[in-house]
Amino acid sequence: MDDRIVSSIETEEDKELNIRPESLDEYIGQSEIKENLRVFIKSALMRGESLDHILLYGPPGLGKTTLAYIIANELGSNIKTASGPSIEKAGDLAAILSTLEEGDVLFIDEIHRIPRYIEEILYPAMEDFYLDIIVGAEGSSRNIKINLPHFTLVGATTRAGDLSSPLRDRFGIISKLNYYTEDELYQIIKRTSRVLDTPITDDAARLLAGRSRGTPRIANRLFKRVRDFALVEGDGIINDEVLNNSLDKLKVDKTGLDETDYNLLMAIIERFNGGPVGLEALASSIGEEASTIEDVYEPYLLQQGFLKRTARGRVVTDKTYEYLNIEKE
Ligand SMILES: Nc1ncnc2c1ncn2[C@@H]1O[C@H](COP(=O)(O)OP(=O)(O)OP(=O)(O)O)[C@@H](O)[C@H]1O
Ligand SMILES: [Mg+2]
Repeated sequence: MDDRIVSSIETEEDKELNIRPESLDEYIGQSEIKENLRVFIKSALMRGESLDHILLYGPPGLGKTTLAYIIANELGSNIKTASGPSIEKAGDLAAILSTLEEGDVLFIDEIHRIPRYIEEILYPAMEDFYLDIIVGAEGSSRNIKINLPHFTLVGATTRAGDLSSPLRDRFGIISKLNYYTEDELYQIIKRTSRVLDTPITDDAARLLAGRSRGTPRIANRLFKRVRDFALVEGDGIINDEVLNNSLDKLKVDKTGLDETDYNLLMAIIERFNGGPVGLEALASSIGEEASTIEDVYEPYLLQQGFLKRTARGRVVTDKTYEYLNIEKE
């Protein structure tokens, strides 16, 4: 389990729904996706038809689930939710599809985890809105077609590459969510401060934005922890002193790196002479799953230029040596 304070993986506490924006106007950043969605949603409403299926992909905590709920809100539709890992049998998916009503949004999180043979049920459902199921006992079984209402599938995944191409091809709109800029995170933090009724100075909000790894979920989680320090050790207001002190105690550095990041970068430098090192070798050297490194640890380090992927494996960069104050051999 990943219990780092700067982990982008969702925890129970993160699920406090009130800080989730509910409309496109409240949703900060991702402007390209937002503006496109505005047009597609408006057009669907004008045509009186269902919105095309949408695939949202990108690292954890950037707002895929939030956006799915917003899409339903903006359409004035109901949302039904499911997740890839919970769909274990063909019947599970058929059951979900058969609850849909005209115009509904069906949100399937971690859609890449639906087994391939079950996924095939989605193809006709997405394309022509019917369900093709086999009934009856072996030997006397037959296929029946059941019409489905028009619905919009919103799929979310952290791994677009793991999606089969027949499934990917059936999405009319495919959008990649990017890491947020510090300015966008600043606005998100200010919004969270209003919603949680906890004041934060502009300076402190800027500092926090820089330590949030481009990720709203992390910004909000750090905000809540810093609020605790501000309440208990200060006067309840988050200023830059409170912010710096509490993040030091939480061991989150000025770029948002924590001990796990340091361990990973140090392992490459000390054990592999800066790389290149293969993902598997790196994973076993720090005692982590390769997929965890790939999905959770590595994206931010890559984005910040502390790590590079080459054909022969991962390497650290000059920036890494400089940042860690280590002489390159
Ligand atoms: N654009 C945004 N503006 C304001 N807050 C946001 C935005 N995007 C996300 N958030 C906040 O960040 C939190 C995480 O977002 P969300 O749960 O939608 O991420 P996700 O991409 O679905 O993550 P995962 O891949 O783990 O499912 C939300 O609870 C929400 O409060
Ligand atoms: Mg989500």
